[in-house]
Amino acid sequence: MRIAFYDTKPYDRVWFDRLSPEFGFSIQYIEERISVDNCVLAEGCDAVCVFVNDHVDATVLQKLHEIGVRALLLRCTGYNNVEFREAFGKIHVMRVPAYSPYAVAEYSCALLLSVNRKTHRAYSRTRDYNFSINGLMGTDLHGKTAGVIGTGKIGRIMAGILKGFGMRVIAYDPYPPKDPDFEMVDLEQIWKQSDVISLHCPLTPETTHLVNHDTLLKMKDDVILINSSRGALIDTTALIDAVKNRKVGGVGLDVYEEEDDYFFEDRSNDILEDEELVRLMSFPNVLVTSHQAFFTAEAMEAIARTSLENMDRFRKDVYLENEICYRCGKEGVCDRDNKRENCF
Ligand code: NAI
Repeated sequence: MRIAFYDTKPYDRVWFDRLSPEFGFSIQYIEERISVDNCVLAEGCDAVCVFVNDHVDATVLQKLHEIGVRALLLRCTGYNNVEFREAFGKIHVMRVPAYSPYAVAEYSCALLLSVNRKTHRAYSRTRDYNFSINGLMGTDLHGKTAGVIGTGKIGRIMAGILKGFGMRVIAYDPYPPKDPDFEMVDLEQIWKQSDVISLHCPLTPETTHLVNHDTLLKMKDDVILINSSRGALIDTTALIDAVKNRKVGGVGLDVYEEEDDYFFEDRSNDILEDEELVRLMSFPNVLVTSHQAFFTAEAMEAIARTSLENMDRFRKDVYLENEICYRCGKEGVCDRDNKRENCF
């Protein structure tokens, strides 16, 4: 079986090349992101493998279907970049539901610690032999309140790490976990009580611009915001205003609303045209990184293995546990024949 692998980076090949012989798949690596114009490169392939910033819309899905592609392997957790309902009856969409929630939670924490204690600025200073610590004061996290939004795999680990710092953790999730060892509250309480807010929910119509002008106003002064989930959870214009107005004490972003044109690419020779991204990066208390929270050796290996196992299950015609339901968007509720009815 052949897999057309879009948006290939050197680090993807390390793990996919290492593991694919075990499964006997042949992989055709393509550097470009998928688009309707380059779908044709997948001709003769049984599956297409894509990443977070590949937009698989209805036209792309239709085109892939026409050229005989039968499976779409998302080598990521989120699937907001796929119009999966359009795949109904055409292409099976599978994802990697968890590769290393620890990688993302630990990285979110790294962002929090850097933003709070300004290690990113200290690093630049000392490299320039500037050993002054003026302006680098942070606060103790111990005893402060952290608000975690989304208590799935990553959010729960994040909550545990924050508790390890001696923080009080409060959390919001419309589908709260059973027996959480932190306090579940409503969103209003998250905005009102938190000194640190960390976002760990998926991007959906309900969560788009969850952090906006109104919710920012409800937050405590000097709140620290961390987002390693999806950029559009935050209204960037409103965030920039809040930073300019000194409402927000610090921001750590591993994702950005309009990241598609920039993140994962070397744009250091270009004139950046995204004014909001440039403005964000101009603030001393905002740290932006390029969607790297997942990027550990363990996570990369797990991504490659699960993607290849997904394809293997498809080849063997067995139940696809990581398939996204075409109807409701939840996973594990569809079968190969699309006969499940309990997804409504
Ligand atoms: P998960 O599916 O285990 O947990 C998500 C949680 O969010 C669930 O408990 C769900 O009930 C909750 N949720 C749904 N709607 C909500 C709402 N309106 N408000 C609050 N909570 C809501 O997902 P996981 O693995 O914890 O991942 C969380 C997010 O992290 C993903 O959706 C993805 O966007 C992002 N992510 C980012 C990575 C990075 O490298 N920066 C890597 C992996 C994931």
